Amino acid sequence: MDHVRLGRTNLMVSPVGLGCGGYSRLGMGESKDSSTAEGVVKHALDLGINYFDTARAYGTEEVVGKIVHCQRSEVVISTKTMFRDKGGDYMPAEKLVESLEKSLARMNTDYVDVFSFHGVMPQDLDYCVEEYVPVLQQQIQLGKIRYLGITESFRQDPTHEMLQRAVPVGCFDVAMVGFNFLNSGARDQVFPDCLRHDVGTQVMHAVRRALSNPAVLMQNIEQLISTGEIDKGVVNNDDPLKFLTGHPGVKSVIEAAYRYCRYEPGVSLVLTGTGSVDHLTSNVAALTAPPLPDELMSELDRVFGKVTSVSGD
Ligand SMILES: NC(=O)c1ccc[n+]([C@@H]2O[C@H](COP(=O)([O-])OP(=O)(O)OC[C@H]3O[C@@H](n4cnc5c(N)ncnc54)[C@H](OP(=O)(O)O)[C@@H]3O)[C@@H](O)[C@H]2O)c1
Repeated sequence: MDHVRLGRTNLMVSPVGLGCGGYSRLGMGESKDSSTAEGVVKHALDLGINYFDTARAYGTEEVVGKIVHCQRSEVVISTKTMFRDKGGDYMPAEKLVESLEKSLARMNTDYVDVFSFHGVMPQDLDYCVEEYVPVLQQQIQLGKIRYLGITESFRQDPTHEMLQRAVPVGCFDVAMVGFNFLNSGARDQVFPDCLRHDVGTQVMHAVRRALSNPAVLMQNIEQLISTGEIDKGVVNNDDPLKFLTGHPGVKSVIEAAYRYCRYEPGVSLVLTGTGSVDHLTSNVAALTAPPLPDELMSELDRVFGKVTSVSGD
C-alpha cells in the first residue's frame, strides 16, 4: 500500500487506518474475545496498515500494544484522553498526564505518535486550549507524545462547529473528522482549513451504522425527508441507493462509502472499524480502489448534498 503524508507531522501513513473503537471495537463490542481482536490487528499489519486509532475509552489499547510491539517504530499509534470526569466536570490537567501514562503502560510503549482530546464539543475548546494544551506540550518536550490531535463528536456536532474553530488555532497537528456521503459538510466546513494549515486528517464515520445497516439508513432518510434536507422526489422510496448498487462499477454500499471518502481533498487517511478479518480485507480493497465514477459522486451529492443534521449513527 502506498503511504500518504499526515499533514505537517510528516508521518508517512497508510491511507487506511484501523479504527479500534466505534461499535465494533475490534469485535469486542460484539462480545468477541480479545483473541479475535488480536487477529484483526495482526491482519491489518499483514495488509499493510500502519495506522492504528485507539483510545482509553475503547478498551483496545492493550490489544494494539501487544500486537504492534515488535514493530513499534514502523507503526503510528493514535490514542486519546477524556477530559471530563464522570460527573461532567473538567478534570485537573494532571489527570490527563496520568491518562497518558496509563495509555503508555497499557500499550507497553514509551511514546504515542498522536495524542488527541476525545470528542471535544464547541463549548470545551477554549478550556482544552488554555488549560490542557500547555501541559500536554510539556509531554511532547519529554518525548512521550509526538503530535497533538483533536477529535470531534460528529453525532452531537454534525456541522463541525468545534473543528471549524480548532483547526486555525494552530496547536493541533491532526484532526479526526466525521465525513461520509450522507453528510459531506466537512468538504466545505473543515477540509479547506486543514489544507491551509497543513493539518493531517483521519476520517471517522465513513460507514458507521447508517451505511452498513439498511434499516438504519431508511430511518435516516425518512428523518432527512421530514427536515427537508432530502427532496422526496429525488429518492426511490423502496431502494434509495438503487442508483449506487445498480452501477456496474460498484460492489456494495459499503465499498462505495469508503471510496467516496478516500480521495476527498484534505483527507489524509480513512479509518475503518471492524471486528471481522473478512470485512477488513474487503474494506482495504475498497480504500485502495480508484475513485468512484464521477457520475456517482455527482448523484450522491445531488441526493445528499444539503444534509447537515446526521452523522450516520
Ligand atoms: N470522537 C471520536 O474520537 C470517535 C468517534 C467515532 C469513531 N472514532 C474512530 O473512528 C473509527 C471508525 O469509526 P467506526 O468504527 O464507526 O467505523 P466505520 O468504518 O465507519 O463503520 C464500522 C461499522 O461498519 C461495519 N462494517 C465495516 N465493514 C463492513 C463490511 N465490509 N461489511 C459489513 N459491515 C461492515 C462494522 O461492523 P463489523 O464489525 O461487523 O465489520 C461497524 O459496525 C473508530 O473505530 C474509532 O477509532 C472516533
